[in-house]
Amino acid sequence: MLKTKDIKTILITGGAGFIGSHFIRFCLRKYPQAKIVNLDKLTYAGNPDNLAEASKNKNYIFVKGDICDSLLVDSLFAKYQFDWVVNFAAETHVDRSLTQANDFIRTDILGTQVLLEASNKYNPKVYLQISTDEVYGDIPKGRFAKEIDPLNPSSPYAASKAGGDMQVLAYFKTYKVPVIISRCTNNYGPNQYPEKIIPLFVTNLLENKKIPLYDGGSQIRDWLYVSDHISALDLILNNGKIGEIYNIGAGHKNEITNKKLTEVILKNLGQSENMIEEAFGLRPGHDRRYAVDTAKIRQLGWRPKIDFETGIKRTIKWYQTNQGWWQKIKSGQYLEYYKKHYNNSKCKN
Ligand code: NAD
Ligand code: TYD
Repeated sequence: MLKTKDIKTILITGGAGFIGSHFIRFCLRKYPQAKIVNLDKLTYAGNPDNLAEASKNKNYIFVKGDICDSLLVDSLFAKYQFDWVVNFAAETHVDRSLTQANDFIRTDILGTQVLLEASNKYNPKVYLQISTDEVYGDIPKGRFAKEIDPLNPSSPYAASKAGGDMQVLAYFKTYKVPVIISRCTNNYGPNQYPEKIIPLFVTNLLENKKIPLYDGGSQIRDWLYVSDHISALDLILNNGKIGEIYNIGAGHKNEITNKKLTEVILKNLGQSENMIEEAFGLRPGHDRRYAVDTAKIRQLGWRPKIDFETGIKRTIKWYQTNQGWWQKIKSGQYLEYYKKHYNNSKCKN
């Protein structure tokens, strides 16, 4: 593995999105000698406002482009000779994957393969694929998915991420591309696009709008504050073993149902349960529970630092004090998506 000071160039794809933008800010701080190239297509989820500060840094290079564009990708690898490649770029929203699966297959599988092909040609030290715990599918109560478990994705999103993981493993076996895969649980924090449950509910409540809780809210997710995901990825890049997979998750003592999460958000904003709008039928195949075994990354020395109570308060505060950030999003093409998706629901008040 390279020493920190030897990292000269890092390719980060999808860096204008939620987690990628946090990772870019982190790398600019931790690796001040390195050039950080962000290749992002700026889909609806890519937001240059997330990187307003970073763009003033002379080491930050933004390239607007598609990871499926093999000529562009090849030219960037040739020019910068990346030490690390970190692939965040993806279509990421389960609900959208129900109607636009082709976009997911294109970016999450084909785009991954294009990056692997260039990695095979130009030999970065590490290719890190940012995957998700959703590739394991629904996990029964009492069980925790291990890295060696078979993949059992439920949604077109999860299936496309699983397809990306398979490409990554194939390029390791066949060509010895130095890959690592991380599979993290649900993230939350500042800068998350307000289609995911936490920013959607918080911003709806700030606008005095109802919050659509799916299928009774008994589903369980393992919420991890975004900075804890970032520290895990940095540890993996520096100390992870090539060819390995690492689960990342908070592993809360008491598992958090969507109902419980909703109650916490309502309480923090001083609002009542009357704001909940029960929504059924919006997410066919809705996984009941995600839970991963994180012993392997904990053995590397990683621990989450932000507990849920602190993280959710911090997150809500961010959306309260950065209303311009999300109001800009919620007034654009977002409105069409919201109407189309939620008006199809069998919401009962
Ligand atoms: P996001 O939707 O906020 O951002 C995705 C980014 O990728 C956007 O900037 C978008 O413009 C870019 N992008 C999409 N298609 C592209 C393409 N073809 N070429 C180049 N750029 C493209 O996503 P996020 O929530 O930040 O997730 C980042 C990664 O982490 C994804 O791979 C996701 O699967 C994974 N992940 C997310 C979570 C979570 O809770 N958000 C949890 C585990 C893993
Ligand atoms: P989401 O934030 O979309 O993340 P993911 O599907 O990747 O886990 O959804 C998290 C949980 O919240 C999931 O069980 C579905 C539920 N949910 C709602 O109840 N209402 C909503 O409007 C959304 C978007 C999600």
